[in-house]
Amino acid sequence: MKNGVDTREKQAIGLVPGSLAAIALCGLTLGGLLPGIIWKAVAIVLCGMVWLQASRKILVRMSLLQRLGYQTLCCVAFLLQPLIETDEATFAGRFMARLVVVFLWALIIAIIYNIIYKNKPKMRKKIVAGNWKMNTLPAEGVELAKGVVAGRGEVCSCVNFIVCPPFTHLAMVAEALKGSDIELGAQNCAAEAKGAYTGEVAAQMIAALGCKYVILGHSERRQYYGETSETLNKKMAQAYANGLTPIYCVGENLDEREAGKHFDVVKAQIEEVVYNLTEEQFKNLVIAYEPVWAIGTGKTATADQAQEIHAYIRKVLADKFGAAAAECPILYGGSCKPSNAAEIFAKEDVDGGLIGGAALKAEDFLAIGKGFQK
Ligand code: PGA
Repeated sequence: MKNGVDTREKQAIGLVPGSLAAIALCGLTLGGLLPGIIWKAVAIVLCGMVWLQASRKILVRMSLLQRLGYQTLCCVAFLLQPLIETDEATFAGRFMARLVVVFLWALIIAIIYNIIYKNKPKMRKKIVAGNWKMNTLPAEGVELAKGVVAGRGEVCSCVNFIVCPPFTHLAMVAEALKGSDIELGAQNCAAEAKGAYTGEVAAQMIAALGCKYVILGHSERRQYYGETSETLNKKMAQAYANGLTPIYCVGENLDEREAGKHFDVVKAQIEEVVYNLTEEQFKNLVIAYEPVWAIGTGKTATADQAQEIHAYIRKVLADKFGAAAAECPILYGGSCKPSNAAEIFAKEDVDGGLIGGAALKAEDFLAIGKGFQK
């Protein structure tokens, strides 16, 4: 289940040309001890391999700026070498002095690893999206939205909040959200662009009301309204044609989980719909993993269960879209609440939540967003 990491590993190596310089410096440090060009070359290659291994584990977690800082520190360590170089003429003396430098590097790696990597927020967008479902009257919805706006300042601006009210509330809620950074989404859209489809709401209509997102493929729509992959492909196309970002839901039911089929189920849901997207469209996609048995039941997947399947989903995405899969936010949904959000969001491949019941109280919804801060 490490595909997400694999992808970032590849990216980091590709993205870090400075590593090449560091490899050379590292190799020369030890290689300088050795006579003859061949031995020096062997030292450079060996050090290079060690460096690449370190890069995989460490640089991969850093932003470009942090990587540059890290490499600068390594170079400084290298430059400090003459200060601790002894006058020892013996091979052993010189070897010991250079060993000190290598330890210094190891220390730097450990410090950076602990300070930056362990506490580093994930690079992907963090999202807390509220799916209000068929709840609240318009005026109540506006109050709820205002409550979220009022308390938003208490939560890290690094968390992206989205509210998805019923269609009937969209215009009013859009008004209530004005001036805040809380974004608006709809819970569904029609599969067709416009025309004689009584009762349907087109993607262009919700986009015109200020929606940036649309939830598609929610299990309740699959289950009660017979939405199939075929319909969802059309809905996705409509969403993209109108500049909306789909929040595409996948997830297994209880029988499928108990039969151990959950991986196959989400894989099929992704292959049948997400695999049809272009690379450009895929860059504008949010996935929500929502085990049906956890939706509205009070039963939550454990943080480990969530991580296991989120990592798997990322692998399935990477099989088709390669490195871009590492950037795709994957939200967890299903009885997510203030008391369990922090533990679930702390997992490597969980980038936030799609919240149902707990999104109907502004303070709970915001408290879930705080789950990222713990
Ligand atoms: P829940 O719903 O948080 O009430 O379980 C989540 C969802 O269906 O999106």
